[in-house]
Amino acid sequence: MKKSRILAIESSCDETAAAVIEGNGEALLEIKSNVVASQIDLHQKFGGVFPEVASRAHAEKILPTIEETLVKSGLGGEGGGWQKAMEEIDAIAVTYGPGLIGSLMVGVAAAKTLAYALDKPIIPINHWEGHIYSNFVREFLISNSQFSKGRIPEFPSLVLTVSGGHTSLILMRDHGDYEILGRTLDDAAGEAFDKVAKLLGLRYPGGPEISALADRIKNKELRIKGGYDFPRPMVNEPGFDFSFSGLKTAVLYKVRGLRGEPFDCTRGKGGEAGKQRKLSGNERAMIAKEFQDAVVETLVKKAEQAAKRYQPRSLCLAGGVAANKQLRQAFKEMAGKLVNKPTIHIPPLFLTTDNAAMIGAAGYYHYVAHQEKKWYDVDADANALLV
Ligand code: KG4
Ligand code: ZN
Repeated sequence: MKKSRILAIESSCDETAAAVIEGNGEALLEIKSNVVASQIDLHQKFGGVFPEVASRAHAEKILPTIEETLVKSGLGGEGGGWQKAMEEIDAIAVTYGPGLIGSLMVGVAAAKTLAYALDKPIIPINHWEGHIYSNFVREFLISNSQFSKGRIPEFPSLVLTVSGGHTSLILMRDHGDYEILGRTLDDAAGEAFDKVAKLLGLRYPGGPEISALADRIKNKELRIKGGYDFPRPMVNEPGFDFSFSGLKTAVLYKVRGLRGEPFDCTRGKGGEAGKQRKLSGNERAMIAKEFQDAVVETLVKKAEQAAKRYQPRSLCLAGGVAANKQLRQAFKEMAGKLVNKPTIHIPPLFLTTDNAAMIGAAGYYHYVAHQEKKWYDVDADANALLV
C-alpha cells in the first residue's frame, strides 16, 4: 500500500500544535514530526485558560508551528522548506471540536486555507477521537510493549478518556464506531484536579502539581491519622457515569474546616471565628494525596466494572489525566487482573496532553476510509459530539 502522509493541526484549548504522520496501511503509524507550542505560561497568571488570550496566542503561533513541523518532518528533501514538504502531504487533519470556539477557529481557518490554496483534502477530527488515537501510533510500542503485545488495540476496545474537558468510558467496536457507556455528569476529572489545585494555591494546570504534592505522602509516617475520607462518587451505582463536583466540594469543606473558616457564611458553621490558620505543608500534601486516591480509584473501578460487563479485547487510557502516574499504575494493575486478559494500552506521556500527532493518527484512519472533505465543508464546532 502506498504511504500516506497527514499534516495535523490542533488548537482546541491552550496548545497550538501541528504534526506530520505517516502510515502505509500495515505498519504502525509513524510520527515524522510533532510540535507543540504551549501557552501555559500565558494562562498561569489567570489560574486557568483565558479564552481571549488563547485565541490570540493561537493566531500568532499557528503558522510558525505548522511551518516548523513540516520542516522537521524531513519530507520534501533536504533544504526544501515547508512548501516542498507540503507537496508530499496527502491530506490535512484538523480538530474541529469540541473546545473553545475562538481557539478552534484559528486551527480550522489555517487548515481550510492550506487545503484551498494547495488543493488538498481536509479531515475534520473530533478532539476526543484524537485522544483515543494516541494509542495507535508507533511510540506506544516503546513505552508499553509488555502490556500491548506490540500491537495496536484490537476491537472491541474499552477506552477511558480523561482530560480537562471530558471524562468518559467508550466502547470502540471498530475505527469510527463508538458507544459512550458513561460520561461525567458535571466536572471532568482534569477539571477537578485543576480546581482542587487552585484551592490549595497551586499553579495551573493543576494535575501535575497535585500529583507532585501527593508524592510527598509516600512516607507512611506523614499520613495524618484517620485520613480525610473523601467520597468515591458513584462507584456503587449502576451504569458507568462519573461525577466529580461532590468530591471537589468535599475537598473544599475539608480545607475550610482545617483552616478554621466557616463552611457557610450565612450560618457560620465550621471553625471558630477568629481562629483561622494556614494549612500545614503536610495537610496540603494529604489533601492532594487523598483527592488523587479518590479520583483514581473512582475512574479505575468504573473502568473495571465496564470491562467485566463488555469483555473487551483491549483496554486503552487516553487524555491529559492519563499522564497521572498513579492512574497509569492503577489502570495497568486492574486490567492485568481481568480474566479475559485484554491487551493494555497507555500512551507515552508526550501523547497524553493535547498534541497534533494524535489528531493525525485519527486523520490517517479516516483518510484510508475515504472520509476526507472539501475545505468548504468543514467548520469549527465548540460542542461537537463524538457520536
Ligand atoms: O487532554 P488535555 O491536555 O486537554 C483537554 O483536552 O482538556 O488535558 C488537560 C488536563 C488538565 O486538567 C490537567 O490538569 C490534566 O489534564 N493533567 C493531569 C496531569 N497532567 C495533566 N492530571 C493529573 N495528573 C497529571 N499528571
Ligand atoms: Zn485534550
